[in-house]
Amino acid sequence: MNRSVVLVAAENGALPGGKVGGIADVIRDLSAAMAARGFDVTVLTPGYGRLGAAPEFEEHAPVTASWRGGNETATIRGRVMAGVTHLVVEHALIDGPEPGRIYYDDGPDAPFATDASRFALFSAFAAAWLVTRPDIDVIHLHDWHAAPVLLLREFMPAFDALRARRTVFTIHNLALQGIRPLRDNTSSLFEWFPDLVVDKRVVDPRWHDCVNLMRAGIVLADRVTSVSPRYAEEILRPDDPSRGIHGGEGLEADLQRVQAEGRLAGILNGLEYPASLPGRRRSLAALMKAARHEVLVFASRDRFLQSTHLIAMTRIAQLAKKQKLTIATSVGRLTDQKMGIMTSVFRGKPVLHHLLETIGDDGVLVVLGSGDPGIERVLCEASARFDNLLFIAGFSEELANDLYRTGRLFLMPSKFEPCGISQLLAMRAGQPCVVHETGGLADTVINHETGWTFAGEDTLSRQAAFIATFAEAWHAAKGASADWRRISIAAAGARFTWEQAAAAYETLYVT
Ligand code: GLC
Repeated sequence: MNRSVVLVAAENGALPGGKVGGIADVIRDLSAAMAARGFDVTVLTPGYGRLGAAPEFEEHAPVTASWRGGNETATIRGRVMAGVTHLVVEHALIDGPEPGRIYYDDGPDAPFATDASRFALFSAFAAAWLVTRPDIDVIHLHDWHAAPVLLLREFMPAFDALRARRTVFTIHNLALQGIRPLRDNTSSLFEWFPDLVVDKRVVDPRWHDCVNLMRAGIVLADRVTSVSPRYAEEILRPDDPSRGIHGGEGLEADLQRVQAEGRLAGILNGLEYPASLPGRRRSLAALMKAARHEVLVFASRDRFLQSTHLIAMTRIAQLAKKQKLTIATSVGRLTDQKMGIMTSVFRGKPVLHHLLETIGDDGVLVVLGSGDPGIERVLCEASARFDNLLFIAGFSEELANDLYRTGRLFLMPSKFEPCGISQLLAMRAGQPCVVHETGGLADTVINHETGWTFAGEDTLSRQAAFIATFAEAWHAAKGASADWRRISIAAAGARFTWEQAAAAYETLYVT
């Protein structure tokens, strides 16, 4: 009947502690939306020694998988919430040394080493569990973490039973592919699964002695999706670093083939639109009080006071004394994807400095987020130099919600963006966005109608376009001009619903 589906992923935003990035929100909301369409929905993630700890969780039958030439047995715990069964797989080798930690992010010497072994084992348990559940006919796998399920289904006779099931693989971010050696390494394909015999399709197109788990997902799934129509188009073209263009990240040939076979779809993520929005629209003084509270919390977590926090406290004290300022905001992880254009150098100084010069004395830019140390450095230095920049290095959902409600202009100049959620949250709160015309940003923000978009053929023209578009938007926002008000109302009225996304997934599940 194809009415029973399992979502397999590394994150699950429905469980406390189950979120690092946007994939968690997708799993939480898509599972609920599919249940609302009458599907029998199960979500399967690792428990990381934490997620299944609530007393409502019940122990299910354990599952055994072959691993590194032996056998491992995992505990499965589950609870039903709002019609969705949330299962977690518990095994010490998946958890790693820090309970609750989802990603270990090995450095450039051994990229993905720890995480690839953990998620390969998780996937082996997922595949073994699926064999015991013939009632589940759709297997929806998310990003490279769950892709080994497809490797086992394709190449391991013990999993032949899974061949009859419909498989859907969703690409959330092609920049992270889970590439590991085939052999001669503790974190390598044939160390995990010594009996596996694979073919060339799952070998990395650049490094022929490596498996590429993202590629395996793309070539082996019945249907492949990405999280916006525009991104699904962009990944068909090759990257062009000389022009700062992100495309298929080396997998464009596979993606073109999948597209030609009619197996590729771009389905925009949705958002919930509750009657009362989280967070509060605050006065400058109240916002600064809330900001001070968070900065002190972040500072208390470090053994030594970081200069970023010290500078932030200084700025907060200055800003709290001002009468009225127009507030621009930016919220998100400080990665090259999100902040690379903002921190890149244009005419001798970071793009950010040009924006702050435009803002001048009439306003302030508040940036909330942490991440890449190099990007934090550029922001920290700029916040020391410009008193109209408040950089809050950390993340607090409460403060983020207040910023979505209070800001006049939200900046999201991502180099590429598969879908993006922050721009949807800002728009929902009536804060128009300035975005790079790429991926999900291009699909959700209409220039001069629901926000401002910029584009450029190469790095230089893109930087110049960002600075100019920001200046135009800032002037509209500053006086809350009629234009700004029209755009703010249109942004708040735009709808990107999960009902719509779920209907599109249903087509892939059942036809
Ligand atoms: C990844 C992408 C982001 C997307 C999210 C959920 O984090 O970078 O654009 O919104 O996945 O699909």
